[in-house]
Amino acid sequence: MIITIAHSKGGVGKSLLAWHLSVAMNVPIIDLDFQRTLVYIDQLRQLNGLSARTILHPQSTEEFMDVFKALDETQDIIIDVGGFDSDLNRMAIYLSDMIITPAVDRATEIAGLHKFHDVIQQISESTETDLKANILLNDVSPSARDFSLMEGMVAQFPHFKMMKSVVSHRADFYKTMNEGKGVSELPSSTKALDELNTLIAEIRKGSEE
Ligand SMILES: Nc1ncnc2c1ncn2[C@@H]1O[C@H](COP(=O)(O)OP(=O)(O)OP(=O)(O)O)[C@@H](O)[C@H]1O
Ligand SMILES: [Mg+2]
Repeated sequence: MIITIAHSKGGVGKSLLAWHLSVAMNVPIIDLDFQRTLVYIDQLRQLNGLSARTILHPQSTEEFMDVFKALDETQDIIIDVGGFDSDLNRMAIYLSDMIITPAVDRATEIAGLHKFHDVIQQISESTETDLKANILLNDVSPSARDFSLMEGMVAQFPHFKMMKSVVSHRADFYKTMNEGKGVSELPSSTKALDELNTLIAEIRKGSEE
């Protein structure tokens, strides 16, 4: 299954989620961001004496297609798309089995969601498909319980679907990354890992449907 973490807006948690998902699920990453965020995190990992993860960094649509064609059908892979629009990013979105779009639960998200919805709509139209991006509330306050504002907004977009999982703002997510680790590699269970595991269960369930 190809899981693509995508949003045309920057700073919503794409790389953070791609990283923790890939470590916990033990799957490779394709890092499509020119900032090479996850390539850098993996270097930190190796400096801390941990074994390197597989992070591929194709730089053109041709290189991306070579990576894609070499994939075994049973192979899971996570793609971290940069926070911008490009042919390469659109190709990754089109080829993926599941698109996950992180978003914070604020009314100010609406402009960014509109823009990204246009992208998904354009890819759907040009490829005669009906792509759906799964909106994942991320970086929300751990005490937040009412997400009706976002649920209401997302319901208005035909190419969006709200995920049940919610990922809170948790220091464990970025502190572990500072050392090149995933939250699944901490010695004891944490709320961050509980949320990540709930998300993984929802992803796996979605892939069966
Ligand atoms: N659930 C979370 N808990 C704590 N911090 C978070 C969470 N999600 C994101 N952040 C923080 O928010 C910032 C932006 O996250 P990240 O770099 O993953 O975003 P991005 O969407 O990949 O951005 P870009 O589009 O620039 O690549 C980072 O400092 C990250 O640590
Ligand atoms: Mg990023």
